[in-house]
Amino acid sequence: MRLEHKKAIVTGGAGGIGRATAMALAAEGAEVAVVDLNGEAADAVVAEIRDAGFRAIGVQADVSSEADIERVVATTVAEFGGVDVVFNNAGIIRRTTAVETSAEEWDRVFGVNVRSIFLMCKHVVPIMAAAGGGSIINTGSGWGLKGGGRAISYCASKGAVVNMTRALAIDHGPQGIRVNSVNPGDVNTGMLRDEAQQLGEDTAAFLAEAADRPLRRMGEPREIAAAVVWLASDESSYVTGSALVVDGGGIA
Ligand code: NAI
Repeated sequence: MRLEHKKAIVTGGAGGIGRATAMALAAEGAEVAVVDLNGEAADAVVAEIRDAGFRAIGVQADVSSEADIERVVATTVAEFGGVDVVFNNAGIIRRTTAVETSAEEWDRVFGVNVRSIFLMCKHVVPIMAAAGGGSIINTGSGWGLKGGGRAISYCASKGAVVNMTRALAIDHGPQGIRVNSVNPGDVNTGMLRDEAQQLGEDTAAFLAEAADRPLRRMGEPREIAAAVVWLASDESSYVTGSALVVDGGGIA
């Protein structure tokens, strides 16, 4: 058990990558707060974790709201007694160019993908610092490291996640807090299907294209979860400010 006695928060915990990671963290001994906009789906993940014999709570929240983030942190501390690990993973994508994107959509993507991480860190870092440290993992994207077509707000937001991660690592390393980003390539979740729909493309063809990389397949959520568990655990004790790419070779 690599995470025994650790208390973790996972945002977007009802989605593909979040669910797999919440399960994986719990299986390594962590108590997990599963946070999602979709409270019912979060509760279903909590039920799965509890059925497997582990401890979890569900918290419905919009991660772009400061009041909601404060409630998430307070609830986790009240239930578990602290916070050692945060996986800032909730995210949305809009498959539009700059010309096609409204200012409101731009702000929403940045609210969910970027502001959320700032808010979570603002409220959780003092708790981690008082306890002597912690590990924060932020979900970036291959598209946060290089450009991608028709996803202007998403690419900009994920680039911000990668560099915000480095800045957080510099500021809070002296307090024993490690901050890293995990950057997936195409992963088999609802987001890919949502993208196909937004682009008006055939889902099967879109998914087949996602497999066009050296390892000849898209990723599975558990493969991102494994990287997050490693970054959360003491096995990565000298790793901070890094952008770990988990993409089957797509960036190369
Ligand atoms: P998903 O759509 O399955 O999960 C996203 C979850 O975030 C959903 O459960 C959704 O309800 C939740 N969420 C959305 N807005 C929220 C809000 N305002 N507050 C709280 N929760 C909210 O998608 P997936 O693939 O699991 O995405 C997880 C992360 O991985 C995202 O940040 C995404 O950008 C990133 N990512 C995904 C890739 C993929 O190919 N699936 C590739 C690279 C990055």
